[in-house]
Amino acid sequence: MELLLWLWSQFLSCWNNLPALGIALTVFALLFDFMKRRKSWSHYPPGPASLPFIGTMLQIDFHNPHLSFNQLSKKFGNIFSLQNCWNNLVVLNGFKAVKEALIQKSEDFADRPPFPIYEHLGYGENAEGLVVAKYGHAWKEQRRFALSTLRNFGMGKKSLEQRITEETGFLCSAICSEEGHPFDPHFLINNAVSNVICSLVYGERFDYVDKKFQRLLRLLEQAMNEEAGFLPQFLIVVPWFLRIPGVPQTVFRCQKAVWDFIDELVKEHEATWNPTQKRDFIDAFLQEMKTKEHAESSFNDSNLRMVIFDLFSAGTETTSTTLRWALAYMLLHPDIQRKVHEEIDKVIGRDRSPQMEDQANMPYTNAVIHEIQRYADIVPVGMPHVTYRDTELQGFFIPKGTTVIANLSSVLKDETVWEKPHQFYPEHFLDANGQFVKREAFLPFSAGRRVCLGEQLARMELFLFFTSLLHRFTFQHPEGQARPREDGHFALTLSPHPYQIQAVPR
Ligand code: HEM
Ligand SMILES: *[C@@H]1O[C@H](CO)[C@@H](O)[C@H](O)[C@H]1NC(C)=O
Ligand SMILES: *[C@@H]1O[C@H](CO)[C@@H](O)[C@H](O)[C@H]1NC(C)=O
Repeated sequence: MELLLWLWSQFLSCWNNLPALGIALTVFALLFDFMKRRKSWSHYPPGPASLPFIGTMLQIDFHNPHLSFNQLSKKFGNIFSLQNCWNNLVVLNGFKAVKEALIQKSEDFADRPPFPIYEHLGYGENAEGLVVAKYGHAWKEQRRFALSTLRNFGMGKKSLEQRITEETGFLCSAICSEEGHPFDPHFLINNAVSNVICSLVYGERFDYVDKKFQRLLRLLEQAMNEEAGFLPQFLIVVPWFLRIPGVPQTVFRCQKAVWDFIDELVKEHEATWNPTQKRDFIDAFLQEMKTKEHAESSFNDSNLRMVIFDLFSAGTETTSTTLRWALAYMLLHPDIQRKVHEEIDKVIGRDRSPQMEDQANMPYTNAVIHEIQRYADIVPVGMPHVTYRDTELQGFFIPKGTTVIANLSSVLKDETVWEKPHQFYPEHFLDANGQFVKREAFLPFSAGRRVCLGEQLARMELFLFFTSLLHRFTFQHPEGQARPREDGHFALTLSPHPYQIQAVPR
C-alpha cells in the first residue's frame, strides 16, 4: 500500500515536471522497442537499417513497392532482410535461393504467419483451414484429407475430367450466344471456373444466371478486394486494433458474408445427408466428423467452413485469372494462336471434344499453357512462409519464426535460367524437335510442403478449358479497340486489365 502511494506521488510530481516525464516515457519506449526488435544474430541476411517501432517500413515506397525491392536486392543481394514494425522478414530472390528454401529445406520453411482476423470475427475458435494454417497436426490432417477426397472425386481420374468437360460445354455455348460481338470474357470465365469448385464441394453446378450463384461470386470477389485493401493489410500487420469492438466486422464484412453463405450450404447438406452416399466434399467431411469425434480431431464445423472457403478463394480467382491472361495473349500473338489451332486440328480434329489423353500428343499447346503461367506470373510473391525452426540458407542464419517471402516472380523471370525471361516465348518449354520439356524453374504453384494443393486440378482445368475454347473459336481483338495491356493489376493476384474480345466460331 505504501509502495502504491509512493508511486502515485512520484507520478503526480512528474506532472509538475513535464519535460522529465517526456524523457522518462521516451526512454521507456526505446527500451520497450529494444526488447521487441530483433537481436543482432551473426550471419543474419543483410538489409537496410531499421528504425525504432517502424522498422524498415519507410524504405518501401508503397505506391511502387517493386521498385524499392529491386533497389534493395541490387544493394543487398538475393537474400535480404526487412523489419515490419517488430516482425522480421526475409526476402528470397532467384531460382537458387527459392529452390534451396522451398524444396531442399522444405520443412524448415513450412510454417505460416499468424492470421488473427478469424477469431476476431466472432466465430470464436481458431480453426485455420488449409491456406493460413500453422504447420502442424491440424494442417496435415486437413491437407491429406482434401487431397485424397479431391482425388477420389477424380483429381487425376476420369470423373473430375467429366465435370470439367461438362463445364467447358456450357462455357462454349455461352460464348457462342455472344454471336461474334465484342464482349469482356471475365464474367463467363469466372462462372465456369467457380462452377468446377462448386461441383466438387457442393455437388452441383449452377446456371450462370442463378441468383444464389451470382451472389456467391460477387461476395468472393469483394472479400478478396477487401483483403487486399490498405486497412486490412495494416490490421494483419498490427492486429492489436482488431480488438476494438466492431472493427473486424466492419473491415471484413464481405469475408463474413461468404462464411455465412457457406454455413447455409452446409446446413442444406446436413438436412439431406445420407451416410451411405458421398455426393461431394461436404458429405465426405461430414462423414469424417461423425467417425472422428475425439478431442484432437480437426474435423469440426469451424474447420469445415474454413476449408470450403479456402477451396473457393484459392481455387477460382487463380485459375480464372490465368485463363483470362491466356485469351489476352492469344489476341496479342495471333501467330501462336494459329499454331495451337493447327495442333488441335491435327490431334483432335473437328468431330470430338478435347480430353486429357490428348495432352501427351500436344507438345505445342502444352508449352503455350506453361508459358502463359510463367509469363503471367499471377502470384508474384507467393504466400508468406514462416521458418518452423532455426535454419541456414546459403550461409545466412534465419531464426525460427521469421517471415519468409519466396519471390516466385524472380524465379519465373530469372535471367540466369530462361532464354527470354521478359518475352512470351513458348519455346521455353520445347526442345529442338518440338517435344515438350519440363523446366525446373517453372514454379507458378510454388513448391515443397506448402505447394499449391490444387495444382493437379488447376492443370487439368487449364488444359481442358484452353483447348476446348480454341477448338471451338478463333479469338480476335475487336476492330478499333485497344489491344489488351500486358501489365497487370495487382490485388493479391496479378490480373489483366479488362479487355474486349471477339469469338469467331471455327
Ligand atoms: C492456376 C491456378 C493456381 C495457381 C497459380 C495457384 C498458386 C498457388 C500458390 C503460389 C500457392 C502458395 C504456395 C506456398 O505457400 O508456397 C497456393 C496455395 C494453395 N492453393 Fe493454389 N493455385 C492455383 C489453383 C488452385 C486451385 C484450383 C485450388 C483448389 C483446389 C488451390 C488451392 C490451394 C490451397 C488450398 C493452397 C494452400 C496450401 C497450403 O498452405 O498448404 N489452388 N496456390
Ligand atoms: C476445430 O479444430 C481446430 C483445429 O484442430 C481447432 O483449432 C478448433 O479449436 C476446433 N474447434 C472446435 C469448435 O472444436
Ligand atoms: C520479385 O522479383 C521481381 C522480378 O525479379 C522484382 O521485380 C520484384 O521487385 C521482386 N519483389 C521482391 C519483394 O523482392
